Amino acid sequence: MDLFEYQARDIFEKHGVPVLGGIVATTPDEARAAAEQLLGGKPGVVVVKAQVKTGGRGKAGGVKIARSADEAAEKAGEILGMDIKGHTVHRVMIAAGADIAEEYYFSLLLDRSERRYLAMASVEGGMEIEQLAVERPEALAKVAVDPRVGIDAEKAAEIVAAAGFAADVAPQVAEVLQRLWDVYQGEDATLVEVNPLVKTADGTIVALDGKVTLDENAGFRHPDHAGLEDAAAADPLEARAKEKDLNYVKLDGEVGIIGNGAGLVMSTLDVVAYAGEGHGGVKPANFLDIGGGASAEVMAAGLDIILSDPQVKSVFVNVFGGITACDAVANGIVAALEMLGDAATKPLVVRLDGNNVLEGRRILAEAAHPLVTLADTMDGGADKAAELAHTAA
Ligand SMILES: Nc1ncnc2c1ncn2[C@@H]1O[C@H](COP(=O)(O)OP(=O)(O)O)[C@@H](O)[C@H]1O
Ligand SMILES: [Mg+2]
Repeated sequence: MDLFEYQARDIFEKHGVPVLGGIVATTPDEARAAAEQLLGGKPGVVVVKAQVKTGGRGKAGGVKIARSADEAAEKAGEILGMDIKGHTVHRVMIAAGADIAEEYYFSLLLDRSERRYLAMASVEGGMEIEQLAVERPEALAKVAVDPRVGIDAEKAAEIVAAAGFAADVAPQVAEVLQRLWDVYQGEDATLVEVNPLVKTADGTIVALDGKVTLDENAGFRHPDHAGLEDAAAADPLEARAKEKDLNYVKLDGEVGIIGNGAGLVMSTLDVVAYAGEGHGGVKPANFLDIGGGASAEVMAAGLDIILSDPQVKSVFVNVFGGITACDAVANGIVAALEMLGDAATKPLVVRLDGNNVLEGRRILAEAAHPLVTLADTMDGGADKAAELAHTAA
């Protein structure tokens, strides 16, 4: 999960990384109040910063200086609602203004191929890092970081030396890098980037921008991370599925897919996409893995979510009975349709195989639900579901 800059700022502060004051605002009036609070009645400068999860906000006009609270309100009015690389600005952060003497770059990320972390640092900040890496690769120090050791004093000194930080800032920067390691490890991040890390006119090192990606697989260790999610941006159906602990991903097509086990669901997506070529190019509408226990409740929750997607025209349920046998799955489907009642309106193709398949098919045949078609094979089921979706579209 990528964080907004203001969230990264808060996390930095929590781990002792030097940052400037920052307050989020969603309206010009809130921006004015935030600026008044930061300025504390004295003359000074604040910076109004678009909060969108993409870089290059400065260049896109999403970072503006304001010399008074009124001007902050005015700039916030200009930035709010702006589109930056396809992201609409819903909030701004009013940040204390820094008197920048020098801009540096630092990042720490997961280097999967080397099975360790990689620290990158440069004393030539302010440029897009991709551009720096291409045009002046020698100016970008790359230092491997052993996950078992992290960035201790020794590693911090190595990074600072490799990047060529001047003696007057080197000890301070080394200290900040250790705090950034605390962020990385303590929050289970996969990326921590500071661009720019700056030296201010009075010689202090401050993180002026922050990009943090958290590892969602470690979410169970961080109950507070759930609150960082951008609920407004999440697909409402994905959010509902998450509440029910279902593995659901919305796609663009018309055929809803339910299966058990990620492997089976993925191959179901493939056969449906293939079958769809023969039926007006219909495609899978989603990925939904109901996992091992296909109980009636889980099946009902899954069907409910898929049927709520207006783009879905038909549903293909493809389940391989294992520990949960096919008769239990069949009972689950029958009970789910009963639970949903009139909410179930789209045709369902069901293919069952595996443990107790005959009994499973018998249960479905006996229930003879008008929306349900039984299929004997995966390819046959995919073809029928694609055909039904095409007819209904
Ligand atoms: N609080 C601040 N005070 C002064 N200048 C700032 C402040 N925040 C950002 N800037 C300036 O704006 C530039 C762009 O801001 P930044 O937060 O890095 O956004 P982005 O990386 O999305 O362009 C920075 O390189 C810096 O020069
Ligand atoms: Mg930046």
